[in-house]
Amino acid sequence: MLRQSSGKEIMRVLDTKFARDFIRMADDGFLQGWHERNGGNLTYRLTQTQIDSISNRLNPYKEWQPIGTSVPGLAGEYFMVTGSGKYFRNIKEDPEVSTAIIELDDKGENYCIRWGLVDGGKPTSELPAHLMNHEVKKRLTNGQHRVIYHAHTPNIIALTFILPLKDEVFTRELWEMATECPVVFPDGVGVIGWMVPGGRDIAIATSKMMETYNVAIWAHHGMFCSGTTFDETFGLMHTVEKSAEILVKVLSTGRGKLQTITADEFRQLAVGFGVTLPERFLFEKELDPLDPVPYVKADFASRPYDE
Ligand code: 13P
Ligand code: ZN
Repeated sequence: MLRQSSGKEIMRVLDTKFARDFIRMADDGFLQGWHERNGGNLTYRLTQTQIDSISNRLNPYKEWQPIGTSVPGLAGEYFMVTGSGKYFRNIKEDPEVSTAIIELDDKGENYCIRWGLVDGGKPTSELPAHLMNHEVKKRLTNGQHRVIYHAHTPNIIALTFILPLKDEVFTRELWEMATECPVVFPDGVGVIGWMVPGGRDIAIATSKMMETYNVAIWAHHGMFCSGTTFDETFGLMHTVEKSAEILVKVLSTGRGKLQTITADEFRQLAVGFGVTLPERFLFEKELDPLDPVPYVKADFASRPYDE
C-alpha cells in the first residue's frame, strides 16, 4: 500500500473492499445460474472516500463517450461496472478484463473509463438503465442506495409467460410464496411488458418503476434490483427469485391453491414486523383448487387490482 504526501492511503483497486465485494457478488450470481454467457450486469456508485483511496491508480483521461441518456443528478460520480459482452463467469478470474471504473462528466451525459477493461470494450449496454435507476434512487434514498443489479433469473422470467403483467398480481403471488417476502420487499415489485433492451426507452420505463419499487421485472428477460449494499441487493434478487421458484413449483403441479396467506394475515404480519404494506396489494381473492392460474379468467379486467 502506498501513502500520499497528504498521508492518505492509496490502494490497488482490486485490494479495496468495494471491488472485492463487487466481484464476489458477480460470482455468487453466476453460481446461482442467473448469468448465462454475458447475461446480466452490475453497477456500484463509489463513495468519495473510495474514490480518494484509488485516485493514484486511475488511468489518465482519454476519450469521453456518450452515456446514451442524461443523468445530471449523477454528474461527477464514479461507478464500478461490468463490461458489455463480458461473461460473469470470468469476472472472478479476470476482473480487470471484465469490469471497469467509469467517471461521469459534469453534465452527466458522458463517461470516461478510468480503470479496467484492459483488453478493450465498453461498459454494459444497459448503462442507461443502470444510471437512470441510480439517479432516481440516489435522490429518493438520500444517497443511501449504491448498487443496481440486473440478472436473468429463470423462475421470474418463466412467470412472465403465464401471469398477467401486473404489479399487483406479481407482488401478491410472490408475497404469498414465503412468509418473509413482504418484509424483504414491502413496496412490492413492478413489471414492464417486453421492450427492446439496451436503450433509453427501457431505461426510462425502468427508472419510473424505481420511483416506487426496489425491484423491476422485465417480461421475458429478467430483473433489476436496487439496494444500499452488495449484500442487501443480492439478497433482494435472491429472495424474489426463490419466491418465483416456489410459485413455479406450485403451478407445475397443475393444481390451484387449497390454502394460502390471506390479506388479513398479511396485515397482521405488517404489524408484527413493523412494515407498511400498500392496501392495493391486499385485495380479496378466491382460491380455485382446480385452477393453478385463476388470474387468467375472462373476468380479469373487472378484478380490483386491474386499474
Ligand atoms: P451486456 O453484456 O451489454 O451487459 O448485456 C447483457 C444483458 O443482460 C443485456 O440486457
Ligand atoms: Zn439482460
